[in-house]
Amino acid sequence: MRRKLLLGNWKMNKTPTEAVEFAKEAKELGKLARSNKVDMGVCVPAVDLAPVKKILKNTLIVGAENCHYEEKGAYTGEISIPMLKDLNIDWVIIGHSERRTYDNETSEKCNKKILALLKNNMVPVYCCGESLETFENNGTREFVKEQIITGLKDVSKEDAMKVVIAYEPIWAIGTGKNASTEIAEDVCGYIRKVLRDIYGAKVANKIRILYGGSVKPNSVKAYLSQKDIDGALVGGASLDVNSYKELLTSYIY
Ligand code: PGA
Repeated sequence: MRRKLLLGNWKMNKTPTEAVEFAKEAKELGKLARSNKVDMGVCVPAVDLAPVKKILKNTLIVGAENCHYEEKGAYTGEISIPMLKDLNIDWVIIGHSERRTYDNETSEKCNKKILALLKNNMVPVYCCGESLETFENNGTREFVKEQIITGLKDVSKEDAMKVVIAYEPIWAIGTGKNASTEIAEDVCGYIRKVLRDIYGAKVANKIRILYGGSVKPNSVKAYLSQKDIDGALVGGASLDVNSYKELLTSYIY
C-alpha cells in the first residue's frame, strides 16, 4: 500500500517571520496525519528552511524547493545538498514547471539533481507536466514520458522506489483551472505504466505519484480517491494555515 502524501509548495512566499507563525500553528497536524496514515509536509523557500524545520522537527516533512547537484563550488546563489543535510532536510522538489520556465531547468539537469539526492538518501519530488498547447494537441503522454525517462536516467530500481513523481499540468497551476480527476488519473496511470516499462510492476507499484495544479480542500479527496494518485502537491492552498489544515481534514473526514 502506498501511503498518501500531501505536500505544500510555498514557492516564493512567506518571510521567515511569517513562516514561523505558520509552522507553530501547523505543528499539531503531524499527529493527526500520522494516525490517519498520511505523510504531510511543506516545501519552503531556502531562508525559511532552518526556522521551520526547528519548529516542525519530526512532526511534518519540511522540504526544499530546489538544490544544486554539485556538492560545493562557484555557483553563486545556489544551495547544495550538504547544506540541506546539515539542516536535516531530506525532501526536495525538482523540476517544478516554474523553474523549467524561468530558470532554464531541463530534464537533463533534473536528472543530475535526482541522482545526487538519491546518492545522499534524500527524496526527490520530481515534477512533470505539459503546457496548454501540448495538452490541446494531445501531446501530453509523449511529453510527460520524455520528462520521466530523461529525469530518471540511470536511477536504479532500488532508488526509483524512493522517488516521488508529481504530475502538474502547467495549465492547471495557479490558474484555478484544475485538471478533472479523470484527466489527472489518466495521466498518473500512464506515468505508472511508463515506470512499469522501465522498472517492472513491483517497483512501479511502490512509487508515489502526486497530482498538482489548483488542488483545494474541496477537491483533494476526489483526487486522492483515484487509483493511481497517491497525493497532492499544493501551492496556493498551502499558504494559509487553515486551508492547509483543511487539506488533511477534508481528505480524512
Ligand atoms: P497551485 O500550485 O496549487 O497553486 O496550482 C501547485 C504547484 O505549483 O505545485
